[in-house]
Formats: sequence, structure tokens, C-alpha cells
Amino acid sequence: MRTHYCGELNREQLNQTVTLCGWANRRRDHGGVIFIDLRDRSGIAQIVCNPDDSLMFKAAESVRNEFVLRIAGVVRERPEGTLNPNMPSGEIEVIAREIEILNPSVTPPFLLDEENLNENTRLAHRYLDLRRPSMQANLKLRYDVSKTLRRYLDEQGFIEIETPMLTRSTPEGARDYLVPSRVHPGLFFALPQSPQLFKQMLMVAGFDRYFQIARCFRDEDLRADRQPEFTQVDIETAFMDEEGIMKLVEEGIRRLFRQVQNVELEAPFPRMTWHEAMGRYGSDKPDLRVNLELTELTHLMKDVEFKVFREAANLQDGRVAALKVPGGAIFSRSEIDGWTEFVKIYGARGLAWIKINDLSKGEEGLQSPIVKFLMPVMQQILEHSGAKDGDILFFGADRAKVVNEALGALRNRIGHEKGYASQGWKPLWVVDFPMFEYDDEGQRWVALHHPFTSPKTGHEDYLVSDPGRALSRAYDMVLNGWEIGGGSVRIHQAEVQAKVFDALGISSEEANEKFGFLLEALSFGAPPHGGLAFGLDRLVALMAQVESIRDVIAFPKTQRAACLLTQAPNTVSEAQLKELHILKMESAKVKS
Ligand code: AMO
Ligand code: AMP
Repeated sequence: MRTHYCGELNREQLNQTVTLCGWANRRRDHGGVIFIDLRDRSGIAQIVCNPDDSLMFKAAESVRNEFVLRIAGVVRERPEGTLNPNMPSGEIEVIAREIEILNPSVTPPFLLDEENLNENTRLAHRYLDLRRPSMQANLKLRYDVSKTLRRYLDEQGFIEIETPMLTRSTPEGARDYLVPSRVHPGLFFALPQSPQLFKQMLMVAGFDRYFQIARCFRDEDLRADRQPEFTQVDIETAFMDEEGIMKLVEEGIRRLFRQVQNVELEAPFPRMTWHEAMGRYGSDKPDLRVNLELTELTHLMKDVEFKVFREAANLQDGRVAALKVPGGAIFSRSEIDGWTEFVKIYGARGLAWIKINDLSKGEEGLQSPIVKFLMPVMQQILEHSGAKDGDILFFGADRAKVVNEALGALRNRIGHEKGYASQGWKPLWVVDFPMFEYDDEGQRWVALHHPFTSPKTGHEDYLVSDPGRALSRAYDMVLNGWEIGGGSVRIHQAEVQAKVFDALGISSEEANEKFGFLLEALSFGAPPHGGLAFGLDRLVALMAQVESIRDVIAFPKTQRAACLLTQAPNTVSEAQLKELHILKMESAKVKS
């Protein structure tokens, strides 16, 4: 139907007759002459419709936004003064000879080039939203990323193997999406949270190097970087230790950035232990572009007069820490009030602060609502944090988890909003994760990564004697404050796996019932193995420099886990429910 794409036209086609297909991005009537910006996936071409050809002109007059057109015409140079250097095809225009309206369009609910569109409107008409050049570019980038990674893994001898979507649940920490079985009344499949156990089975099966661009499903609270349905570039190898695996996948990411973004990432990526990351940045995925750090103060606060700090310092899992912002003594009261509200999102009960106005004046030179309670330890606070005249210290005191989340988020926010962040790419490996953490209620140990992660050599005995001390062979790849991938060396011996289940409070009956197939497989000569999974959506979102992974997914769910385009989830007929042995529920409707 066409000879060229709109965005590919340039001076080379001057005086040629071309045929283009696309959508009317804009139609402008300039009294006598009609201009149509014709858009296809490659870009926009300007079409000029002169009234001397009355049949063609009549068609041009009836064109409205988003009509689908086929236009034949002659390419000519744009007149002096009308060149558009912002468009690849900005030096030329097409004088229309024929316009065929392939399909009209009703008036779109939004203008495609409008900025700050409401996301729900965009999602409800996603096929229109996806016509926008930025969204076309995002999805093209996504394809380039998966193509490049696939090619890299292929060159390294990996083979892609599909694993089931209807399966038993594997415990990755989120809630499962369940699928009722018609054939087996009362029984359910789970959609996979990841292909974790299947890729381990493939190592037992001798495939040696597996990968898969795999869809994963997790019913968890959604955020900008979390979707209920997302994609992993999932990788597993046998006979490779963590050094080998990290080197291999790191090179893949470096190659990806080189080929797709023309960016050379540092080599090798720096490494930091989990404890150091939490201590200095309050986060296991620190954004190293931000040059602000926390100072540990817990040990100084055990006997201070200020009750909030003293109590936190004496909690078993308590922490008191300060975030120093150099030059921050100029921050206004209302800015500080705003940040105090902000940290409450993370459970903080307040945000104490000290402005260091003039150290030579002693207590007089310190401005703060709490300074008088802290004077006995003030010298040490100043020394540890290195605070100088003109700086501000923000304090967090609570359970360590709350302090870390609150001050970690504040560090990112102040860092980016107040100019304490550098540009560019800051990759990082976080290593030496603890095997276990206390669950939110502080009741029992849960796996920090997943229960198939191997303990560090020499830490096997802690699994029983002191689980909190055991470190694992897990590693996360972090880029600009986003966890873009995570993996580990796995347990390949059934006895060690049984010990870990034991530490997690999973009885041997329960372990056999849930993971019997894994324990059995490990007993048939499982090779040492390990791997990693990248979050493809996050990787592409970072590269596209968008805030939310929804902008790099063709048909994402909302924050409330619904599809506004198809109105899913939806009610189903009573007959369908009956077949699945499910009792009828009250009729319900998706709320956006
Ligand atoms: P993990 O749970 O860390 O590891 O997931 C791997 C990567 O997937 C991405 N990710 C997500 N992206 C979007 N939405 C979500 N809800 C979401 N959850 C996770 C992150 C994360 O780093 N089986 C292990 C991997 C392994 O050990 O090999 C696993 O799934 O970028
Ligand atoms: P108050 O004694 O409640 O008036 O608090 C004095 C200062 O300490 C205020 O600036 C509070 O924001 C701050 N604050 C209160 N609780 C905490 C906490 N858990 N962590 C850090 N600062 C706090």
C-alpha cells in the first residue's frame, strides 16, 4: 500500500512520487491550503493539499484527527523559513495528489501530543496512547533490550526453555494468583512468581545454561516499579560460582548499555555488602548518584535524656541514625515540615533535626528542638557525622527497618530535589545478604532472598545456632537506586536444604508436602548451580528514563491491579463458576 514510511522521507526523494499510509496527527487549514501531519510509527511527514485539485482537496477538508489515510504525492523542498530542524523529515514536504480515507475516526478522548495526560484516561484507551511517539519509542526500546540480551545469552551458550504457567506456587515472598482446576474439584494451580524451581530442575536435568524471558505473577501491593504481571530475563547455570555468574551477567548489562544506549558503564561494577549499604544509605538498593550518607548513632544514645532516642537505641532491633546534608542549615521550616510528613509514609514518628549554625558559639550556635537533651553526646555526634557550620542533621530513631526506610527515602528525595545528585549511571552489586530476616510482625525468620539460596561457606552451622548471623550467597544488581536483578548460588544438597527449611520453621512433613519434588531431585546428583533474574520492565524503564514501569509495558495494570482497557478482572457466568466448583459471589465491578 505504501512506498515509504513518513519519518524516513528526506531530500533523497526530492521530486519523486511517494505513497504514504498513516494517521492524521493534525490537520491545519491555512485559508486555501490544508496541511496534514501524517504520522506512522517512523515519524511525521507534512502533507500540503492545494485547492487546485478539487477532488483531492475535498477529501482533505473532511479529514479529522486520527483518520487513517493513504496519500500519494510528490516530495519537494520546504519553502525557505518553514524548515523544521526538529523533525527528520523537516526539510521536505509532500504535495498531495491523491488522498484516500481508509477509515475515519471518531473524536479521540485526548490529543495525542498533550502533555500530563491523566493516566487512567490513557490506560482506558491504551491503543490510542500507544500511538504516541514516546510510547512507540519505549516499546521499540523494550524490544531492543530483550533482543540484545537474548543474543548475548545465546552467544554464551545459553538455551531458552519455557517453563509452565500453571504450576504449584513457589515462595518468592508475594501472594499467589490462583487458578481453580475444573478437573480436580477444590484444587488450584498457582501462576508462577518466577520460574525458580523449574530452572533448578533444568540444572539437575543437565542443561547447564538456561535462560528464559519469562512472565511472572505476584499479587502484592503495587508501586511505580511493581506490576502484578512482569517480565524477568531469567538465567541459571551449573558448575559456576558467584564470581563466574556475576561476571557473566555484568558483561551482558555492559554490552546492553553499549549497544542500545551508547553508554560505557564502569568495569567492574563496585560491590558493597548488604550491611554496609544499610548502614551508610539505609537501603539495600542505594542510589549512588546521591552523595549523602547516614551516620550510625545507636551506641551513643543508650542513656540520653531524649526518651525517643534512648528507647530506640535500647530496642533489640532499634537504630538511631542521622542524615547529614551539607549546607542544609538554610532549609526553611516549611521544607522541614514537608519532609517530616514525607517520612511518616515510611512509618517514622517524627524527624528531629539540628542546624549547625556556628560551632564556635557552642550550644548557642546549634538550632534544634532537641539539642538540650543531647548535649552530653553532642561532641561525638558532630565528630561521627563530620558536620560543619552550615550543615543540617536529620535524625531517625525507631526499629531499624523504619529508620532505614525513612532516612533512605529522605536521602533520595533531598538528594535529587536539592542538587546533591550526579548525572549518569551508577551500577552496584550488593552482596553478603543475611540468609533470614524477621517477618513484619517480628515473629519468625523468613528468607531474605528465597529459601533455595545457599548459605555462605562456613555459615551452615549458624542456620541452627544463630540464624540471624548466617550470610547467604545472594547478590543483587542495583542501578541508580533500582534493584534491576537478583540471584544467588543455590543449595544443591538435600541436607542443607532441609536445614534451611528447619530454620524457617517449615517442618519436614510440610517441606515434603510442598517441596518434596525439589528435595528428591537434589538427591539424584544435582550439580552445584546458581543464577539470577533481571527485571526487564525495570531495566527498560531506567533506560527510557520514565518514572513508572507502566510506561514500558504495552498493556499494564493500574496501581489497583486492574486493566482499564478490557475491564479485567470481571465477573464470569454462574455456569463457568459451577464448572470450577466455586460458589457464586456477589456481583462486583472493577474500581479504578
Ligand atoms: P526476585 O524476586 O529478586 O528474584 O526478582 C528478580 C527481579 O525481578 C524484578 N521484579 C519485579 N519487577 C516488576 N514488578 C514486580 N512485581 C517485580 N518483582 C521483582 C526485580 C528483581 O530484581 N527467582 C529469583 C531470581 C533468582 O534467584 O535467580 C527471583 O525471582 O528487578
Ligand atoms: P517531640 O518530643 O515529640 O516534640 O519531638 C521532638 C522532635 O523529635 C521533633 O522534631 C520530632 O519530629 C522528632 N521526633 C519524634 N519522634 C521521632 C523519631 N522516632 N525519630 C526521629 N525524630 C523524632
